[in-house]
Amino acid sequence: MVSDLSHITCIEDLRAVAQRRVPRMFYDYADSGSYTQSTYRANESDFQRIQLRQRVAVNLSGRSTRTTMLGQEVAMPVAIAPTGLTGMQHADGEILGARAAKEFGVPFTLSTMSICSLEDVAEATQRHPFWFQLYVMRDRGYIENLIDRAKAANCSALQITLDLQILGQRHKDIKNGLSTPPRPTLRNLLNLATKPHWCLGMIGTKRRTFGNIVGHAKGVSDLSSLSSWTAEQFDPQLSWADVEWIKKRWGGKIILKGIMDAEDARFAVDSGADALVVSNHGGRQLDGAPSSIAALPSIVEAAGKDIEVWMDGGIRSGQDVLKARALGAQGTLIGRSFLYGLGAYGQPGVARALQIIQRELDISMAFCGRTHIDQVDRSILVPGSYPLPFPAA
Ligand SMILES: Cc1cc2nc3c(=O)[nH]c(=O)nc-3n(C[C@H](O)[C@H](O)[C@H](O)COP(=O)(O)O)c2cc1C
Repeated sequence: MVSDLSHITCIEDLRAVAQRRVPRMFYDYADSGSYTQSTYRANESDFQRIQLRQRVAVNLSGRSTRTTMLGQEVAMPVAIAPTGLTGMQHADGEILGARAAKEFGVPFTLSTMSICSLEDVAEATQRHPFWFQLYVMRDRGYIENLIDRAKAANCSALQITLDLQILGQRHKDIKNGLSTPPRPTLRNLLNLATKPHWCLGMIGTKRRTFGNIVGHAKGVSDLSSLSSWTAEQFDPQLSWADVEWIKKRWGGKIILKGIMDAEDARFAVDSGADALVVSNHGGRQLDGAPSSIAALPSIVEAAGKDIEVWMDGGIRSGQDVLKARALGAQGTLIGRSFLYGLGAYGQPGVARALQIIQRELDISMAFCGRTHIDQVDRSILVPGSYPLPFPAA
């Protein structure tokens, strides 16, 4: 058990340790985008093109990054994004992530495609509210059942992911033969032999397959039938009428994830959802789409005041959170920054990732002459360094 992580000073440090500790197929699953990965790369690099205005001689005492997301108080405007197979980055990964988020005071989102189940996470966090991300499948009976399970698990919001009815291709996943648990091929066994920490964790847990699905969805009793089941089950006919149906059935707060277009943002507002997430799925779906931060300003403008606008994609620092907030995102979600912390050191690694981002956010906000996150707006940006994408040089 590692307790002192003071040598870990940035998210990149966590990524490098995760790369050493996590089996190649699961590390690659996290650290990749679809096809040429151009959108995946743009998510990060576009943040770096936005410049912050440094201000001086401002009283910087009594600073705070606290704000709200969906009316819920949060330690900073950051939530943990839903990520599938999280329990393969580290044994019991979803439970560890949810615990770290609870202690830090930020929301945790559990994916439909998680390893630990809704019930596992609820029990391990003493029924502390978390969010559940829903993929819409053809089998509506199964969806109804998932919604009921999320209610029973005390989930406080349902995040409907709208951008994954069909799958973008990640070359590495195919080449690595991604599966959970990994198949005992010579290549996998040789790689696993170099990951003793990960293997020990997996030996110590019973959670090694999709906990929300196996034993719950019709005809899925083991993993061999699961991959074909997934390909057949994601509903390519998903429509705004389905969103309405789910909203009614759920009866609580709704977050719509995967909005990249101003027209769709208006549909999201009309649907009565409480928040939308500007997201290209971390560059894992439509390769060639703009970065999320480039798409954000037009969506903020189109959405108006009737819905909270959040964003995810490419956030690797508190400076990134600050820039997203400056461009109008009330909140942000982190996927890989969370996964790298988890894969590197388990729960303390997630706590460290959150701590790093919060400290960077606090200090950078102060350099911009602001003492409270709610004072951050476009005026902290160097005019001309946004909006993105930039015209060609
Ligand atoms: C390994 C991995 C698995 C993911 N699985 C899901 C998922 O199950 N459901 C979902 O809505 N989004 C999923 N996403 C997308 C994230 O929720 C989020 O949109 C994305 O990671 C944000 O980009 P970032 O990783 O650069 O922070 C996944 C992302 C990654 C990296």
